[in-house]
Amino acid sequence: MAAFVISSARISTLAVALLVATTISCRGAGVAAATLSNKYYDKTCPGLQPIVRSAMAQAVAADPRTGASVLRLFFHDCFVNGCDGSVLLDDAPPGFTGEKGAGPNLGSARGFEAVDAAKAQAEAACNATVSCADVLALAARDAVGLLGGPAWAVKLGRKDSRTASQAAANANLPGPGSGLSSLLASFAAKGLSARDMTALSGAHTVGRARCLTFRARVNGGDAGVNATFAARIRQGCPATNGVGDSSLAPLDGETPDAFDNGYFRGLLQQRGLLHSDQELFSGGGGSQDSLVRKYAGNAGMFASDFARAMVKMGGLEPAAGTPLEVRINCRKPN
Ligand code: HEM
Repeated sequence: MAAFVISSARISTLAVALLVATTISCRGAGVAAATLSNKYYDKTCPGLQPIVRSAMAQAVAADPRTGASVLRLFFHDCFVNGCDGSVLLDDAPPGFTGEKGAGPNLGSARGFEAVDAAKAQAEAACNATVSCADVLALAARDAVGLLGGPAWAVKLGRKDSRTASQAAANANLPGPGSGLSSLLASFAAKGLSARDMTALSGAHTVGRARCLTFRARVNGGDAGVNATFAARIRQGCPATNGVGDSSLAPLDGETPDAFDNGYFRGLLQQRGLLHSDQELFSGGGGSQDSLVRKYAGNAGMFASDFARAMVKMGGLEPAAGTPLEVRINCRKPN
């Protein structure tokens, strides 16, 4: 038995060595997800995880919504050419167009200062070592934990892209008017299953959305909507375009700042804020209905599925040929 343990340890050492060799030879072609490791900075930046955690604790204590906003940034990073920190790039230097002006980000992406603060502290401890993409992956995990959600081990070793694509952000990030089949397709395009999609959508258990993303739904545009809920929400979001466009409502009206399964309970009552949220539960035999019911009744199942799906989404890699580096300032290429 002991001999077996030793030999399998040797085999896994060999496997790791092979993986490292593959990573080095493939660097120009992007980081393969399989090469991410829980131990990536153990030697080069051992204090990293507590640094990010305390930066996020400070940010979330000041404003719990920042936790939600950082979680969303990670999704918007990973869905656009992999988790490469591209969403963090400003429109600078002149002539460079980042992703912040893309429809799904413009006027709604926030939380950048929290990522900057975590990165600045990581730089102070371990100069030019930790990528912005990894800081964001850790910050998103910590945000979930600080809001009461599950913890998971974050695989690390991502690099930051020197490029961004506003067009890809517009094309790849699903919109609030999406129907179920289009939601499923946009996640499938990233190798994520229907179950992953529904679990990840549970991120809407925290955070806020602007009126212009749910105006139609609460002003008569949607059949499957709770009438009392719609009447209350439209007080801050009337039918007239341009009136109250930026007024906010919680994505989970029950417990807006707690990472729990309240979002799914809301869907059972047709209180999904976005049309796309309610698409996950029709109550009439939709493909995700039974999973939504399970998550609504079983917080532990949602928590573990969410954590697993976050690790999977966090493994999305930039396309071969993407120029990569460890950015010093997350807002601009070195
Ligand atoms: C399934 C498809 C999804 C759609 C259609 C969608 C759409 C949206 C929209 C329209 C908003 C409000 C933006 C605004 O006010 O303009 C929002 C907010 C948010 N989304 Fe999603 N989302 C999706 C999936 C996800 C995923 C997978 C995550 C994370 C894993 C996520 C995390 C968040 C969070 C936390 C907020 C609140 C952010 C804040 O308060 O700053 N979303 N989403």
